[in-house]
Amino acid sequence: MLKKITFLFYIQVLVLYSFLSVEAINLSPCAKWNTTGITIFGSNSKGNGSNELSLPQGMFLHEKTNMLYVVDTDNRRIQMFSLNQTSTTGITVASNINSMYAVYVDDDEMTMYIALRFENRVEKWIKGALEGEQIGNQCKQCRNVWLDKDKNVYMTESGTHSILKWSPKTNTSITISGRIDEQGHTTDRLYFPTHVYFNQANDVWYIADTLNHRIQKWNNNSKEGITVAGSKDGVGGDNAASLANPLYVWVDEQSSVIYIVDSDNDRVQRWLPNELFGSTIVGGTGAGSKSNQLKQPTSLVFDKLGNLYVCDSKNHRIQMYALIDNQPCSKNHSYSLFTKTNNINIVILLSWIISIGSRLI
Ligand SMILES: *[C@@H]1O[C@H](CO)[C@@H](O)[C@H](O)[C@H]1NC(C)=O
Ligand SMILES: *[C@@H]1O[C@H](CO)[C@@H](O)[C@H](O)[C@H]1NC(C)=O
Ligand SMILES: *[C@@H]1O[C@H](CO)[C@@H](O)[C@H](O)[C@H]1NC(C)=O
Ligand SMILES: *[C@@H]1O[C@H](CO)[C@@H](O)[C@H](O)[C@H]1NC(C)=O
Ligand SMILES: *[C@@H]1O[C@H](CO)[C@@H](O)[C@H](O)[C@H]1NC(C)=O
Ligand SMILES: *[C@@H]1O[C@H](CO)[C@@H](O)[C@H](O)[C@H]1NC(C)=O
Repeated sequence: MLKKITFLFYIQVLVLYSFLSVEAINLSPCAKWNTTGITIFGSNSKGNGSNELSLPQGMFLHEKTNMLYVVDTDNRRIQMFSLNQTSTTGITVASNINSMYAVYVDDDEMTMYIALRFENRVEKWIKGALEGEQIGNQCKQCRNVWLDKDKNVYMTESGTHSILKWSPKTNTSITISGRIDEQGHTTDRLYFPTHVYFNQANDVWYIADTLNHRIQKWNNNSKEGITVAGSKDGVGGDNAASLANPLYVWVDEQSSVIYIVDSDNDRVQRWLPNELFGSTIVGGTGAGSKSNQLKQPTSLVFDKLGNLYVCDSKNHRIQMYALIDNQPCSKNHSYSLFTKTNNINIVILLSWIISIGSRLI
């Protein structure tokens, strides 16, 4: 009897532990960040020192190593910063490359995929290599690059108003969204898209459809997109229902909440699924260099603790906003199911059921 209880207790601990050791925090759809940012890399003026940046465009957080890669565009280099330390000095991992706009770092072997906008291509850089190798055919005004788990490469071909998918198995590319060289705001078209986020969970991708001032979601094999943020008619603005030149979209795969770098409004917006308007989580206080302001932000990432980092391009700096409240939404809100707190409650409940069961045996 005693042995059985001990055994069941171990199971409980294991179950609880496996839930608690989840890699990254689950963000509540109602989470709040300190709207006063802290400059962690760069300063308010451009420069080429190892602790400076000049018009940075892209950012990528490599989760396993907690290294932040910053595409330091005007300095023609990629800088790598450690988020583990307080050091503000970057290490150059690629240099002397023109018009780099984005980097995606693959988990295995730290291979970098770099979008070179005016060179019209994506390059793959194997760790330690002195030069990159072009992937696929040209990608006109290539603004961004993303990977899925099969290492298919998604390229944002802004210059032709479409999204390309390159397969490493066949070494060929196909157009998966938009109509080549046909800009427009109908559901089958895009207008200068600048970013694609591939949702690993269900083969759905989200596009920052920049000059249409909206975010489009495309289902696998669909010929049309669905507007999930901004105006479906392609009209920009600065109210809660609008966006103005959004440059980046990131999706919380647990909750389908989307986070948008609303560049011309100098703010970061959060849109819950099926909402007609978003809310500002940082910025939106006018273009400027104060700690609560941004100036043409270009990308964002979240670390494992839920802190937000924004690439504040025209201020030549990376801003960090601490997560200060991760409470679930109010009971009336349908999204409260997704919070970590509730997961833990379910685990504790399960544990109790197991213990009561064990007493009955
Ligand atoms: C937000 O950050 C600022 C600057 O670090 C700090 O002074 C302030 O107390 C923080 N506010 C909250 C609510 O944590
Ligand atoms: C860095 O900037 C300084 C001052 O503007 C300039 O003299 C120097 O040539 C630059 N170095 C590189 C490697 O571009
Ligand atoms: C940063 O910390 C994490 C976890 O503590 C560790 O796995 C990772 O290797 C560290 N990165 C570096 C570059 O030391
Ligand atoms: C892949 O295709 C490109 C042309 O699109 C070609 O230049 C390259 O050699 C091919 N790579 C391999 C490994 O076949
Ligand atoms: C998405 O489409 C591709 C190509 O048609 C197919 O191989 C893949 O299985 C599809 N994924 C899902 C989740 O349906
Ligand atoms: C929940 O909804 C009820 C009825 O719709 C309303 O009276 C109440 O104020 C709401 N509570 C919260 C916390 O929003």
